Amino acid sequence: MSGRSTYYITTPIYYVNDVPHIGHAYTTLACDVLARFMRLDGRDVHFLTGTDEHGQKIEKAAAAVGLAPQAFADKVSVSFRDLVTRMNYSPDNFIRTTEKRHYAACQALWEKLAAAGDIYLGKYAGWYSVRDETYFVEGETEVGPDNKRRAISTGAEVDWVEEPSYFFKLSAWADRLLEFYERNPRFIAPESRRNEVISFVKGGLQDLSVSRTSFSWGVPVPGDPSHIMYVWLDALTNYITECGYPDERAPLWKYWPADLHMVGKDIIRFHCVFWPAFLMAAGVEPPQRVFAHGWWTNEGQKISKSLGNVIDPVELVNTYGLDPVRYFLLREVPFGNDGDFQKRALIGRLNGDLANAYGNLCQRVLSIVARNCGGKVPAKGPLAEADTALLERAAKLLDLVRAELAEQAFHRALTSIWEVIADANRYVDAQAPWALAKTDPARRDTVLWVLAETIRRVTLLVQPFMPDASGRILDQLGVPPEHRHFAAFDHALEPGTALPPPQGVFPRFVETAKAAS
Ligand code: ME8
Ligand code: MG
Repeated sequence: MSGRSTYYITTPIYYVNDVPHIGHAYTTLACDVLARFMRLDGRDVHFLTGTDEHGQKIEKAAAAVGLAPQAFADKVSVSFRDLVTRMNYSPDNFIRTTEKRHYAACQALWEKLAAAGDIYLGKYAGWYSVRDETYFVEGETEVGPDNKRRAISTGAEVDWVEEPSYFFKLSAWADRLLEFYERNPRFIAPESRRNEVISFVKGGLQDLSVSRTSFSWGVPVPGDPSHIMYVWLDALTNYITECGYPDERAPLWKYWPADLHMVGKDIIRFHCVFWPAFLMAAGVEPPQRVFAHGWWTNEGQKISKSLGNVIDPVELVNTYGLDPVRYFLLREVPFGNDGDFQKRALIGRLNGDLANAYGNLCQRVLSIVARNCGGKVPAKGPLAEADTALLERAAKLLDLVRAELAEQAFHRALTSIWEVIADANRYVDAQAPWALAKTDPARRDTVLWVLAETIRRVTLLVQPFMPDASGRILDQLGVPPEHRHFAAFDHALEPGTALPPPQGVFPRFVETAKAAS
């Protein structure tokens, strides 16, 4: 293949104040599916995730358990690494903001911003939410019945802060940002988020405080170490630290600008307003796209530690299996919308879409092949109209799925794949290969070949979503590893290929009293 084009995709880097929950697992999962898809599609992929380890929130969390911030960050960061393994994510690197190279990148960026005249020293006096690591103007806050002031948008408590601070001249960037959004209509997705950001910027921007002096857990400001950088300036920089910034001849610089920053809807302003402004001010190209996905609630309730309803992804995987959980999270809710997590729905998908539709199709076809075709890919005779119709629908899937994933429409990609699975199940019923065994064994073989070939195409596309289950199905179809990438999508099954004995891949989930509770 000529010119493998690069594809750089990032997750937010997660705060180490707490262990991973379903929200973190979800964001990284979406990125993992895209990274895997693009690799199979021949792209030169770089997939980055990691942890955000500085700031007041982490300093406080460390103090609360009597640890130094670095020791605390080291400990919690490991739980995010462990999640990578447990969820079968495939990042190319795991970055930590406490790495030396990251300090160097942050300070280099700061110096560029200062040299461009976009930073000045002043004094911040206003509200600050440690939980959100965000500054709020008074109008964005309100005082509750308990007399505590909170940010209206996030519900987090805010404190009054007054301290010397460096500011970034964000106010001067509004017009250039609006122009940038105009010229790059794909920069913010979904559309509703794009409108939200544009109207925020049109409302006017204030200069942004980008340093703190009342605590010390952060990257020192070059030339004025009594200040540390605002944690969001530090955190956002991770995306270019990885590429070698400020060395634009570094080997990984070829990946910049990122193809996609995946984020939750809560952090869109940082990624779509602050980040492109910092980059433009520093003379670095902004990323190509930011996609903001929605938030999960748990059985109708907002997920929160105080409600005690946090969903532990590891527990979920232990109960329902990894691939079913991966499938469910991306199938159940249109990507970009908020979604409600319901066990009932998960079990419904697991038993319906996976065990009954897909698993049963594989199982039926492969067991007849094993019993009647000598455990080999059956011989393919002349094709009837119904055969060609099914094969053609399966052949179109790659382009369909590619187009859906270019828009991060995971749910629609899966719907398209499962429509072909439903077609294949109808075709089995209509062709009834078991009844052909006596009357027309040659026709039976052709029908089984058409089915096996359809399962092959479907399963190639299932790989990014359910890497383990799909691998086992491809093994059972005798598809060698070198034929599992999309360049081999048209490489049909060869009759006569020996097949291993079939094995069920998607067991039904049988509820025990415990799991149902
Ligand atoms: O914001 N549903 O880190 P963070 C879906 N360090 N996704 C959820 C979720 C929920 N209920 N709760 C959290 C930070 N998320 C910063 C990012 S990037 C330069 C710095 C997801 O640990 C969602 O993707 O608070 C959100 O953006 C991410 O977790 C935030 O993780
Ligand atoms: Mg958060």
